[in-house]
Amino acid sequence: MNITICFASLPPEPWVRAVQQAFPEAAVSAWAPGAPQADHAIVWAPPQQFIDEQPTLQTLFNIGAGVDALLQLKLPSSLQVVRLDDAGMSVQMAEYVCHAVIRHFREFDAYDTDTQAGKWSYRKPRSRADFAVGVMGLGVLGERVAKALQVFEFPVNGYSRSVKNLPGIRCFSGPQGLSEFLADSRVLVNLMPLTPETENILNHSTLSQLQKGGYLINVARGKHLVEEDLITLIDSGHLAGATLDVFRTEPLPAEHPFWQHPQITVTPHTSARTLRDESIAQIVGKIQALQRGEPINGVVDPQKGY
Ligand SMILES: NC(=O)c1ccc[n+]([C@@H]2O[C@H](COP(=O)([O-])OP(=O)(O)OC[C@H]3O[C@@H](n4cnc5c(N)ncnc54)[C@H](OP(=O)(O)O)[C@@H]3O)[C@@H](O)[C@H]2O)c1
Repeated sequence: MNITICFASLPPEPWVRAVQQAFPEAAVSAWAPGAPQADHAIVWAPPQQFIDEQPTLQTLFNIGAGVDALLQLKLPSSLQVVRLDDAGMSVQMAEYVCHAVIRHFREFDAYDTDTQAGKWSYRKPRSRADFAVGVMGLGVLGERVAKALQVFEFPVNGYSRSVKNLPGIRCFSGPQGLSEFLADSRVLVNLMPLTPETENILNHSTLSQLQKGGYLINVARGKHLVEEDLITLIDSGHLAGATLDVFRTEPLPAEHPFWQHPQITVTPHTSARTLRDESIAQIVGKIQALQRGEPINGVVDPQKGY
């Protein structure tokens, strides 16, 4: 059993050592052009050359949940792509989103401004019932986030491709459910995969269907959002602001208006980080399951694109 590791922008050596330790029977190495054929690969943004030079690979384990960049490559139809299935990401996403929702709902930015000026002042409590949160994408991460928001008693709506039935969550689905979902939500949390169907889905038409004073939290992919439309809707007063973790260009260029916009909070694509030990335990467990001929979770459907 040969496992190769190919990362575009992070050093593979710590992963090679840790995978080898977790799976002593396997031969684990970092890929370089001309390397011998492997059975399975652990990858992050590999070049096309890697795919072309490894024609007998069985499985490509992506060390993230989103496979949009990977699916841009020309992949043989026999190659199974597997995404990370939580591996410690969903609790991070839940804490990030709950933090952003609560910070907005409780007006903590305004309190910060006041207290920095030495001002002791109160704001009128707002009603949770007026802050329905719509979670777009009810997959591994979205469902966890929706459940975490319920703990704080926000009304929670959910939107997915297929019909779902989750206790206490108003679930909407399909293109016909989108307008109803948006009109019923004030805070919108995007947790959909980036596919041809979802690219630019956060645009003037959809975001303006949110309730007045709406707020966007984008933690999925930058290409979901038409950035100028967000600024237009905030500046017109329809939206109250946004917390953005992902951008069309990353790192966010120094001259980008999001940096300075007073109603936009920017974080550097950090809402749910890949945790090495959890990810390796999951990937090694899946390779061992494949060896036993058992099915595994997290296999990407190339037709759906996620
Ligand atoms: N910022 C970060 O640090 C970070 C970290 C990890 C992941 N992410 C992003 O988060 C995304 C979601 O991750 P996940 O693990 O929760 O994905 P997932 O398990 O694949 O779930 C995706 C959800 O989106 C829904 N969906 C897909 N296409 C849709 C469409 N056209 N219309 C309506 N709903 C649609 C799916 O509906 P069905 O349930 O009906 O299939 C599913 O509920 C990833 O793809 C990645 O881009 C970001």
